[in-house]
Order: sequence, then structure tokens, then C-alpha cells
Amino acid sequence: MAEQRKKVTLASLFKKVAEGKPITWLTCYDYPTAYFQDQAGIDMILVGDSLGMTMLGYDSTLPVTMDDMVRHTAAVRRGAPTAWVIGDMPYMSYQPSVETAVRNAGRFMAETGCDAIKLEGGAEMADRIHAIVNCGIPACGHLGLTPQSASALGGFRLQGKSALQAKKIIDDAKALEEAGAYAILLELVPDRVCKLITERAKGCIIMSLGSGLDAHGQLLIYHDAFGLYPRFKPRMAKVFGNAGKVIQEGLAAYVKEVTEKTFPQPENYFGMPDEEYEELLNLLK
Ligand code: KIV
Repeated sequence: MAEQRKKVTLASLFKKVAEGKPITWLTCYDYPTAYFQDQAGIDMILVGDSLGMTMLGYDSTLPVTMDDMVRHTAAVRRGAPTAWVIGDMPYMSYQPSVETAVRNAGRFMAETGCDAIKLEGGAEMADRIHAIVNCGIPACGHLGLTPQSASALGGFRLQGKSALQAKKIIDDAKALEEAGAYAILLELVPDRVCKLITERAKGCIIMSLGSGLDAHGQLLIYHDAFGLYPRFKPRMAKVFGNAGKVIQEGLAAYVKEVTEKTFPQPENYFGMPDEEYEELLNLLK
């Protein structure tokens, strides 16, 4: 068996930041993919509520429940024992009250073995972050395009284009850092805004999803990066390997070989010794 790397911890993540080494982060929702990501040395894994779209086929993340998240996060933890695994708080698992937020963050930690949680929103969610962190649970913020509020934000589009909107995102980042967030994800904000926030962060890891190079690291949605989401590929994603194409070609070959009876071959099944077969035929007489 391959030698396992050391467990990624908050200390090792901050060490990377101090050394100027970018942090790698991908979403993941299942055991085998988690295994591959852990083996590849991915620093952080986000079990995102994007699983509502990538795995469950919904049009948005809103129908995803805590039960969905707990099941997938526990599977990812089993596949990725050494990565820093973050459970994404689904819609309405933290918005209603501080207590709801703390209880669901605690459920994530207790039932899945994840290392941290993430929730969406700015200064208005700082009290949730503060309370969760006070319970000893590392919490990551999420600003810019926050998919759970896509309707209010006018769709899945760039956020913080105007100076006023950008100032609000910068103020929100400060509020989340002051509340104790160990990290903040900036999704789809202009690169200059991301740079300003990263430069201003004192003890907080700033991560970029479609927000440029100047953060402490990068996140991509796994399904976008590996051609596994058939509906569309967002501009911010790059396809690093087209697994979707490989799977489709394999499926076509399977259908062809079964149809033409070229699969299975003798090496794919088991025979029976002649004497046993003769006896069986006698027994059936
Ligand atoms: O659910 C998720 O994968 C996310 C990303 C869009 C950042 O929150």
C-alpha cells in the first residue's frame, strides 16, 4: 500500500500560506473520488451542497438537506483520511438562527468526521461563524457569488463589479475574519478585489473560485474540472481531464460488445469441471 501523507491540519494549512505555497482545493461528494483526491495530495476537499446539481440533478442547491450532506461527507471522509475535509452547510441549516447553525455544524462534525464547515454570507452571518468557532469548530466563510442567494443576486454572475459592491465584499470579509473564520472563499469576484482582500487578511486563508491568482489558493468544482457535468461548463473552470468523455466512450463500447456477444470472454466468467457437469446432468434426469 502507498505510504500515507500526514493529516492536513489548520497548522499545516497556515504554514503553507506563510511559505507562499498555494493551497489546492476541490469539491468531492463520494468515496472513490475522495480516495483519488487524497492520493493526489489535494490539501482541502469541500463536500459542497453543489452536490444537489452535480450528483442529484437538481437545478439549484436549495433542495439539499442536512441528511444529504451528512451521508456524502461521511463517504468522502472514509475515502480521504488525510485531506482537510469541509462540510458545506446546506440551505436553511444556519440562516434561521445562531442555535440552528451551531447544532447543524455540530452534527456535521459528530456524524461525518469532517474537519470544518463552510457557510455562505457576509457580516449578517458573522454571529453564526462566531458561535460555531466558539464551540471549537473551524468555520470557513463564502462571499461573492453565494449560490444559495442566487435569486437575490440576479443569477450566477460576477459579484462586486462596482466600487460600492466591492467595498461591501471587502467589509464582509473583515467581519468574517473578526468573527473567527479560518478561511474565506471568494467566488466570482474581480481579481483586483480578491487581491485587496488577500493583502488585508491577517489570520485568514483567502481562497479563490473564479476570482484570480492572488488568493492563497484555488478551488474548482470537481465535475467542471473533469468534464462530468453535462449541462454546462462555467468560464471559470478548466477541464484538466475529460473523464466524462472517457466514460461515454466506455459505455458505448460496453453496449456494442454486449450487443455483439463479444463480452464476456472466458476470462470474465467461470466454468465447471466436466465430471461435475456430467453428474449434474444425471441428477437432473
Ligand atoms: O457547494 C459548493 O460546491 C460551493 C462552491 C460553489 C464553492 O459552495
